[in-house]
Amino acid sequence: MKLFTASTAATLLAITATAHPVKRQAAVTDADILQYALTLEHLENTFYKGAVSSMSEADFLKAGFSSAYYNNLLYITHDEEQHVELLTSALMTAGAKPVAACTYDFPYTDPKSFVTLASVLEGVGVSAYLGAAGLINSTAYLGVAGSILVTESLHTSVQRFNLNEIAPANPYGTALGLNPVYTLAAAFITACPSTNVALPVMAFPTLTATQGIPAAPGISFTFSVKGSLPSTFFVVFVSGLSTTSVVPSMQGDMIAAVIPATAMGQTYVFLSKSSTNTTLADSMILYGPAIIEVTPPAPTFDLSEH
Ligand SMILES: *[C@@H]1O[C@H](CO)[C@@H](O)[C@H](O)[C@H]1NC(C)=O
Ligand SMILES: *[C@@H]1O[C@H](CO)[C@@H](O)[C@H](O)[C@H]1NC(C)=O
Repeated sequence: MKLFTASTAATLLAITATAHPVKRQAAVTDADILQYALTLEHLENTFYKGAVSSMSEADFLKAGFSSAYYNNLLYITHDEEQHVELLTSALMTAGAKPVAACTYDFPYTDPKSFVTLASVLEGVGVSAYLGAAGLINSTAYLGVAGSILVTESLHTSVQRFNLNEIAPANPYGTALGLNPVYTLAAAFITACPSTNVALPVMAFPTLTATQGIPAAPGISFTFSVKGSLPSTFFVVFVSGLSTTSVVPSMQGDMIAAVIPATAMGQTYVFLSKSSTNTTLADSMILYGPAIIEVTPPAPTFDLSEH
C-alpha cells in the first residue's frame, strides 16, 4: 500500500490506551520493577516473534531492507527471548511468581510499518529501563537492568538506522517513569492472564499526535485529545535530559505547540497542568505521552578542543 511514516507509528502508539487498569500498590519494590521489566520484555518478545514468523527475508528485501538488516532482526529476536528468560529466572530466584505473557495487538501491516513500530518500541524500552534504573535499590538488579538497557539501545540504533533516521539523534537517552511507559505499552495489550501479579502502574489518558513527520525544532505541531481540557495547560516535551514546557494555542479542536530546540530524536509529549522545565511529576500529567520523531539539527563540534 502506502509509505508508512513515523507519524503513523505515533498515531498507532496513541490509539486508545483505554488502559488495562491495574491496582496501585503502596510502594514500588525491586520485585515490582523486575515484573514491570518482564512485562515489557514479553511484549517485545511476542512482537519480534510475530514478525519473523509472518514475514520472510524476501518480504523485507522487497520492502527495501537489506539481508544485513534481516540478519540483525533475527539476533534482536534472540536477545528479547534471552531477556524474558533472564528476568523470569531472576524473579523465581527471588521467590516471586514471574508474570506470564499477555495477548497483544500490534498494528503493523508490512515490513516497513513493522520496522517503524519496532524503532518506537525499542526507544520506549530504553526509556523504560533508564527511568526504572533510578528506582532500583539492589545494585545487582541495577547491573542487570543496565546490561539489558545497553542492548535495547543497540536495537534502537539498528531500527533507526534502517529507517534513515539519525540513530544517535540526541546526546542523551530519555528516561520515562513507570506510568508513562505503561500508558504506551497498554495500547498494545489486549488481555493479561488474571494470575499475573498486579503492577503498581496506571495509564494516563491518550494524547494523539495529529500531524506528519518529520518534525523539527521551531515547527508548530498539533495534538488532539478525546476528553476535556482545563482553561490553562502546557505542552511538555521530554527529550534526552531536557524537559521543556510550551504554552499551546488552540486551532479549532487541535492543540498546537512549537517544538522546542531541546527536542531531538524520539520525543515524548505530555499535556500538563503546570509549567515545568525540570521534573514532570505524574501528578501534573493530564494526557500523554504521545511520541514524535524530531529531526536533530546538523551536528556541531569544536575541533580546536583537541
Ligand atoms: C528502596 O528502599 C527504600 C528505603 O528502604 C524504600 O522506601 C523503597 O521502596 C525501595 N525501593 C524499591 C524499588 O525497592
Ligand atoms: C520553561 O521555559 C520556557 C521557555 O523555554 C518559559 O517560557 C517557561 O516560563 C519556563 N517554565 C518554567 C516553569 O520555568
